[in-house]
Amino acid sequence: MANNEFQSLQGMSDIQAPEIFLWQMMEERARAVFNSYSYDELRTPILEKLSVFQRSLGDTTDVVKKEMYSFKPSKHELAMRPEGTAGTMRHLAGRGEEGLNARVFYIGPMFRYERPQAGRKRQFHQVGVEATGEPNPLADAEAIALQKSLLDAWGLTGSKIQVSTRGEPSDRQPVADGLRAALQPHLSDLCDDCQRRIDENVLRVIDCKNENCQKVVDQVPSAIEFMSDASRAYLDQVIHALENMGVEVTVNPKLIRGLDYYVHTVWEISHSALGAQDALAGGGRYEISLGKKSVPGVGFAVGFERAIMALNACGIEGEQFAPDCGLWLVSLGESALTENMKLAAELRSKGIRCGMELAAKSMKAQMRKANRSGAAKVIIRGDEEIEKGTVMVKDMAEGTQEEINLEELIRDA
Ligand code: HAM
Repeated sequence: MANNEFQSLQGMSDIQAPEIFLWQMMEERARAVFNSYSYDELRTPILEKLSVFQRSLGDTTDVVKKEMYSFKPSKHELAMRPEGTAGTMRHLAGRGEEGLNARVFYIGPMFRYERPQAGRKRQFHQVGVEATGEPNPLADAEAIALQKSLLDAWGLTGSKIQVSTRGEPSDRQPVADGLRAALQPHLSDLCDDCQRRIDENVLRVIDCKNENCQKVVDQVPSAIEFMSDASRAYLDQVIHALENMGVEVTVNPKLIRGLDYYVHTVWEISHSALGAQDALAGGGRYEISLGKKSVPGVGFAVGFERAIMALNACGIEGEQFAPDCGLWLVSLGESALTENMKLAAELRSKGIRCGMELAAKSMKAQMRKANRSGAAKVIIRGDEEIEKGTVMVKDMAEGTQEEINLEELIRDA
């Protein structure tokens, strides 16, 4: 029991050094890439009214039906955000005209009550973008290219982009009717979930992971075949624009995506290092109604935890982005301690990582701490050095020691 007391909740992790250095690199480069595509950061609250998610993600999606962390502290039922699009759209809808033509990105924790496993967490982190107001295939292609730029900036290689379409809203009925009729003769071969889904949300049968369901799906026409010519032409234009930009993608008509707000283009990015949970990013075009407003947009989100698994498989680790080891100050005696406090402040004001023992302990005890700190160099001062205006500099890797002027140390640090 004693052990559990200090453990984070199942499916939720503490993120610490050295892995945190990878997170910091990813966040910093993400901000730079988004800035280059003229996106501004938006931070929405983690808690929203439950209805914000029910309305935009769809009542029958797994995320809303089974995975929400929701509670009712007072009048309204609230929920912790399971993703970033719904809250972003709630915010943009409130900004009137300006919100209908916005480009925003977000970075932060999301919550889904899922069964935890490798790459599937209950608290996970997304970096995502949303662009509103451009009902245009070029906007979809640009968002996919942006996502590729982001993965490139992180140094990730070996990912695959799969693209498909959900068609326009008027395709929904013919697609559902067509798929239902095609699947009906195979009903008994489908899993229990899919027998239910056939009426509730027939598209979800297409991306069911069950092997028998997949065999059935292979025998029926794809959803795209029931769509209008205009929807197919829209997808062609997205693919064409991506070819123009040199972004390689594969069309996979079986790609559906689990959220209901999508229309037209949907895509997912996978990586072989991820095993069963192989999608590290997903996105698409959507149309979200909030109150009387219908907001068209396009966007994506990348899961940090999954992207990190893929980066690790490419040999990219947190240690590579660790800050400089910096300096450690050792004070021999009370006056050295006072002087070193001043010296540390001066070095820190120059941005140098600098640590010291805040008590005049023995040389041995202070050197032990210096070692543990990982500092590359240790600065040692006693009464004698203070009198002479010098410091002893010990190179921890070489084991060498030299006496230099204090001014020289400050100037060259
Ligand atoms: P999503 O596919 O549900 O899309 O999530 C995007 C990414 O978040 C996934 O590809 C995965 O990397 C990560 N992710 C999702 N659930 C988990 C989990 N339980 N554990 C770890 N990682 C997870 C969306 O959320 C949409 N809002 C994307 C979007 C933005 N579409 C348009 N705009």
